[in-house]
Amino acid sequence: MTTLVVGAGMVGSQALRQLVRRGERPVAYELVANEENIEGLAGRVEFVEGDVRDLARLVETLRAHRITRILHTVALVGPAAEASPYEAYQTNVTGSVNVLEAARRVGVKRVVSYASNAIFDPDGGDAPFDEAYPKKPAGMNGAAKLCVEHVGEIYAKSLGLEFVSLRIGGVYGPGRSSGGVPQQMRACVEAHLRGGPCVMEKYVYVGRNDMITAHDAALGGLCALDAANPGLYYNIGTGEAYSYDELASAMRALLPGLEIEVREAGRPVTIGMRPMLTARAERELGFRAEQPFALGFRNFVEWVAARESRWRG
Ligand SMILES: NC(=O)c1ccc[n+]([C@@H]2O[C@H](COP(=O)([O-])OP(=O)(O)OC[C@H]3O[C@@H](n4cnc5c(N)ncnc54)[C@H](O)[C@@H]3O)[C@@H](O)[C@H]2O)c1
Repeated sequence: MTTLVVGAGMVGSQALRQLVRRGERPVAYELVANEENIEGLAGRVEFVEGDVRDLARLVETLRAHRITRILHTVALVGPAAEASPYEAYQTNVTGSVNVLEAARRVGVKRVVSYASNAIFDPDGGDAPFDEAYPKKPAGMNGAAKLCVEHVGEIYAKSLGLEFVSLRIGGVYGPGRSSGGVPQQMRACVEAHLRGGPCVMEKYVYVGRNDMITAHDAALGGLCALDAANPGLYYNIGTGEAYSYDELASAMRALLPGLEIEVREAGRPVTIGMRPMLTARAERELGFRAEQPFALGFRNFVEWVAARESRWRG
């Protein structure tokens, strides 16, 4: 069995680490790996430089490495997707369909792909998001993910590929992501360690966002790869959802002296969030988050502090 992790970003690199710890030698398919994400993985992971927009290269990689299952993590995330719907379409939609098509052509059994809680309708009622909650993405992140879910379902139902889509919320933790929330959290921790205040502008989402570490998001992916008979869609989260103000309070409580000013966004916000229900993933995939916010955030601060001290020399 050889696992291909498409994308070695914040979540993909955590999945690679977990696979390595289990004794696998996974393959990573990545356009330009960030050194922070892949630190320590050289020699334990087979890296292939490639673009998800390049179907032929994907097919060649699956064949060359005899790939049997795929964890797909590539996307332009958060503000990067909203800033350029065309680029986001190429990477997030065409790139994802390329992954499905390459898998079908080569006979890979299962593709697990990350979606987002941005697919849900933030005005769909007061209940938390369960898997069946009404879908109505307000921005490009959610629109692209919902499109991929529909295409993935067609690949599963008409072409026999096993496809599993995982809806996750705000990811944070060691590494570097193109996502807005992880970047905001990191900027605040860095500012604090350098002795200064920070500003968190509420530009990524409105409502309350389920916060999950990259470690747990990756764990959900591995559970879906391993599950005996998974369904098509799962919410993967911690059940700990925060508005921006609540997130700042939770961070202050865990990092005394942290000075965060939370400001209204000076631009339109396209992602509406609510708490997520994850009972289905627990029941059918055996997924349970290992890092509640108190633990995940402390680990994250430690990781940033270690980088800062190395940087200072
Ligand atoms: N980070 C979040 O807050 C968040 C929230 C909801 C959903 N998600 C989803 O989770 C998944 C993983 O997110 P992440 O935080 O690890 O993202 P990330 O930005 O850290 O990682 C994405 C990786 O994809 C690579 N990449 C970009 N374009 C590529 C291309 N054309 N070909 C090959 N590689 C390419 C990047 O170099 C990067 O390493 C994504 O599907 C994302 O949409 C993330």
